[in-house]
Amino acid sequence: MNTQVQEIAEEDCKQVPERYVRKQDEEYGHATTTYDATSPKTAQIPIIDLSLLASSSTLELQNLKSAISTWGCFQAINHGIESSFLEEVREISKRFFKLPANEKKKYSREENDVEGYGNDMVLSDKQTLDWTDRLYLTVLPQDQQRLQFWPQNPTHFKEVVDEYSSKIELIKDVVLKALARSLNLDENCFLDQYGSTAKMQARFNYYPPCPWPEKVLGVKPHADGSAITVLLQDKEVEGLQLLKDDQWFEVPIVPDALTINVGDQIEVMSNGIFKSPVHRVSVNSKCERMTLAMFCMPQTERDIGPVEELITDVTPRLYKNVTFTIDFFFKNYQQGRRAIDACKI
Ligand code: OGA
Ligand code: NI
Repeated sequence: MNTQVQEIAEEDCKQVPERYVRKQDEEYGHATTTYDATSPKTAQIPIIDLSLLASSSTLELQNLKSAISTWGCFQAINHGIESSFLEEVREISKRFFKLPANEKKKYSREENDVEGYGNDMVLSDKQTLDWTDRLYLTVLPQDQQRLQFWPQNPTHFKEVVDEYSSKIELIKDVVLKALARSLNLDENCFLDQYGSTAKMQARFNYYPPCPWPEKVLGVKPHADGSAITVLLQDKEVEGLQLLKDDQWFEVPIVPDALTINVGDQIEVMSNGIFKSPVHRVSVNSKCERMTLAMFCMPQTERDIGPVEELITDVTPRLYKNVTFTIDFFFKNYQQGRRAIDACKI
């Protein structure tokens, strides 16, 4: 397997390893996006109160619609997860990444698989690599968990992740219902496309400090293949950036908030009303950064498509029905293409 980025960072290299140097042609051709990773403006991402969404506040529904239409993203507060529990989730992640390399490698992903501990899947010699190590796990449905990849250390890792996943599952329902209601649709119209088993994947991201922050990215520009993604940010170190109007904006840390963005599958289901935002991750020369992304999506064997009510004479169907598999997503991503473009008619 590849060398982990953590090991490269610890070697104290004098020069940036070539495989990690960003290339312009992987950045969706946005001329303004070159080498500016260190000084973007701050994004004024709206803060949405999930308890108000759950109680059908019309004003909060409008705020949600506006947040998603503008940024594709919002900061969720009053989401029902205690701050002490968020701390526990951060702690198990930290304890895992702090294990000795040979301990972590027991959970290494296989070469052609995304699940497990590892870094970028290398599909071509030219591909620029992300400055990040990850632990990628299917957490729901529970019978699809592949326990050989689940750390035994810390010992309560599984207990915490299972509990966190079930809490995120509730949040996902509140958000998907609210998104539907904000478009005056039946509140279950997105959830109805989920099939009987929703899928959730957890991606624990570890970004070691990187001495070349202007040349290297933690994660290349991409949009998520999920319906929605719920991100637990690092408590102190920023790094997530969103592309809006051809400019990069830094997403600030809001204490105890969860950063929620829509993914490609909501873009398809909403017939393009809600756009899946392009985002990337910068690296920090001094500090490490850890985040946890929970990707919520319909069961993978299932076709999804634009909700019928949203296809009209004035707003024709923009996307095909597609089955959004992980392979479909990653093949496009690693070649610097967006999966959503492959869904467009
Ligand atoms: C991701 C992602 C952002 C971050 O894992 O898809 O965009 O800040 N992560 O780690
Ligand atoms: Ni992402």
